[in-house]
Amino acid sequence: MLVYLNGEYVDHASARVSVDDRGFLFADGVYEVARVYDGRIFQMQPHMERMRHGLSELKINTAQVDDIPGIAERLLDENKLRAGDATVYVQVTRGAAPRAHAFPPPETPPTVYVIAKPFKQHPATYFEDGVAAITLADTRWSRCDIKSIALLPNVLANQQAKEHGAFEALFVRDGAVIEGSHSNLFSVIGGKLITYNMCGYILGGITRQLIMERAPALGISVSEAPIPLDKLADVEELFLSGTTTEVMPISKVDNKLVGDGRPGPVTRKLQEAYKRWISE
Ligand code: PDD
Repeated sequence: MLVYLNGEYVDHASARVSVDDRGFLFADGVYEVARVYDGRIFQMQPHMERMRHGLSELKINTAQVDDIPGIAERLLDENKLRAGDATVYVQVTRGAAPRAHAFPPPETPPTVYVIAKPFKQHPATYFEDGVAAITLADTRWSRCDIKSIALLPNVLANQQAKEHGAFEALFVRDGAVIEGSHSNLFSVIGGKLITYNMCGYILGGITRQLIMERAPALGISVSEAPIPLDKLADVEELFLSGTTTEVMPISKVDNKLVGDGRPGPVTRKLQEAYKRWISE
């Protein structure tokens, strides 16, 4: 399998980055995951805009982002991924330089890595019956709008979910359930969609944005507000959104049923709509 690394297309097994890379030493970089449906990259432009946002917030040169869509397309061709499901993973770090906290000289080239690989869809039962989630305290920083490669709290949270037989861990901050370890969260209350407001405490998901923009045309109203943990028992529906998660119903949180434990009508309507959006 061919991957792209710093200007070259190389075999995955022989791709190498320096031990001085600031991604390795400091998690000093950002990433993106885009989904490929039947060989077509879904929502690439919004993913690239979010990457530009992260890089500019970190004061890493954004110029290389312009080339990434073309690189990703070439990788899909080279790796024969024009049929079936795949993902494109992109990572840009501040580059390699002797270890020191402050930035290296401005001429230090960022490390750019792109890989396209087949994606194994989650079992259909996850979408049809819903998944379990657990809640835990959010120990992350307050710039989660930057899709940073520093993911330790997310890794630990997701591992805890797996150990509890759950699919996702939901972060709780200031008494509100705000997002998952690798997905955003929506609730349905009184037939209306509610998701946590965009700020530094959550990632502005591309899937979240798409749902917010298009739900009104389906007759579903959307608003941004906290979902209090102690009100979870009252919500009618709960679902996750994300590039690999798509629209995934949550049937149980901390072992308590959500609604009647079955995916509700708003979630199912959005799941149907999502299938149409990906094939547009
Ligand atoms: N995760 N929130 C967090 C913390 C995420 O890591 C993600 C995505 C999302 C959903 O964003 P989007 O709709 O743009 O995929 C929300 C990716 C897929 C990952 O880490 O693999």
